[in-house]
Amino acid sequence: MNKYIQDNKKRFIDELFQLLRIPSVSADPSFKNDVLKAAQQTAEFLKDAGANSVEVCETPGYPVVYGDYFISSDLPTVLVYGHYDVQPADPIELWSSDPFDPQIRNTPIHPNGAIFARGACDDKGQFFMHLKAFETMVATNNVACNIKFMIEGEEEVGSQNLDWFVKKNHERLKCDVVLISDTGMVAPGVPSLTTGLRGLSYVEVEVTGPNRDLHSGLYGGAVANPINVLSNMIARLHDDKKKITIPGFYNNVATLSAQERAELAQAPFSLEDYKKALDLADIDGEEDYSTAERNSIRPSLDVNGIWGGYTGDGAKTVIASKAYAKISMRLVPHQDPDEITELFTKYFKSIAPDSVKIKVTPHHGGQPYVCPTDHPGYDAAVRALSDSYDKKAVPVRSGGSIPIVALFESELKVKSILMGFGLDSDAIHSPDEHFGLENYFKGIETIPLFYKYFAKK
Ligand code: BES
Ligand code: MN
Ligand code: MN
Repeated sequence: MNKYIQDNKKRFIDELFQLLRIPSVSADPSFKNDVLKAAQQTAEFLKDAGANSVEVCETPGYPVVYGDYFISSDLPTVLVYGHYDVQPADPIELWSSDPFDPQIRNTPIHPNGAIFARGACDDKGQFFMHLKAFETMVATNNVACNIKFMIEGEEEVGSQNLDWFVKKNHERLKCDVVLISDTGMVAPGVPSLTTGLRGLSYVEVEVTGPNRDLHSGLYGGAVANPINVLSNMIARLHDDKKKITIPGFYNNVATLSAQERAELAQAPFSLEDYKKALDLADIDGEEDYSTAERNSIRPSLDVNGIWGGYTGDGAKTVIASKAYAKISMRLVPHQDPDEITELFTKYFKSIAPDSVKIKVTPHHGGQPYVCPTDHPGYDAAVRALSDSYDKKAVPVRSGGSIPIVALFESELKVKSILMGFGLDSDAIHSPDEHFGLENYFKGIETIPLFYKYFAKK
């Protein structure tokens, strides 16, 4: 390990802990001050690392933290993107320790320690690697490219104000490539580059039956029960081959060639380990596709939450007036989120019986993304990872979404390189989220190599 990193190891952990202690939950307005505090703290760390023109930029929502380091107009410019906001910690009772009081513990996958905290991997721990790699390069006089940082605070709620920010800041954000660590690796110790992200359409549905809650004895069997109806409607969104039934849903889905599918199938995957890790007797999904394909190159539809009626202790005999569900659809190239939301709405209303009323409210969405493997930035990342792991980096398509990536492409006309260091088992968005210390320091060591190779492109 580089001497500077070795000498500052403890501080690199302590400083990340400071950031992790701030509960910057963007989804919940009661954490507003903490989200703002996380932005300030990020700006401080960026300044301390050596960045110039550091600014906490106001937006109609949470601020964007910006900073840069200019060396020469002869060198390429890299824009580093990350997010300082985190998902809610709920259900808190399932955490082994306080989600906002980071602790280091060993796990079978991280025998040399992992940091347990909300945001440890997604994305505070990962964008912090970039700050510390940058600090290391500045301190050792080894910065190979011009660098800009843009760390936002609304990624976990759909980055709705980034559109506004990016459009207003074209000049300031001008760059040759975007570098992001907000994805994962395919397996421990296997360096990976994410070559695709899924898009997203997210809707909330409301089913209304009778105008008030009813006694389920006096009315049961004689009126439509909105919860029964909603369950049935949801069941009808997939057929028995696990295809989504919305007419037109698959119209624009990009199909991969046999060669592309074979290439992706090279990434290591064990179905037995997969089932074991999730304690599942069997898996489930669309016919004729592998697990790795089902959750990346194929679209999906999932109920994220469903509620209505009585859910308290004991039994209450009631037919609720309303039932609700939140439904997400993960999209692949070239599905358009707005179009899919429209198709969903039309179909969902069409399958509703006359005995209920339906309301569909769209939430945030995002476009899918594909990264070409012949891009100079991709090449620099492969070389950096392969050097640092002494193993060739593999391309993987991911099922997750980072809506801003498609916006960088359409607005700034630049590609994003997705060089993530998390593992699927790191439990992002779940209780006991963690990030391996080895992954953290491997990231800090690998990032400078990316700049070195990208400067020579
Ligand atoms: N970092 C994740 C996305 C991710 C994780 C992509 C792992 C690939 C591998 C990001 O913070 C996230 O959670 N995105 C949301 C989208 C958003 C609109 C709320 C998602 O994918 O659900
Ligand atoms: Mn993230
Ligand atoms: Mn996330």
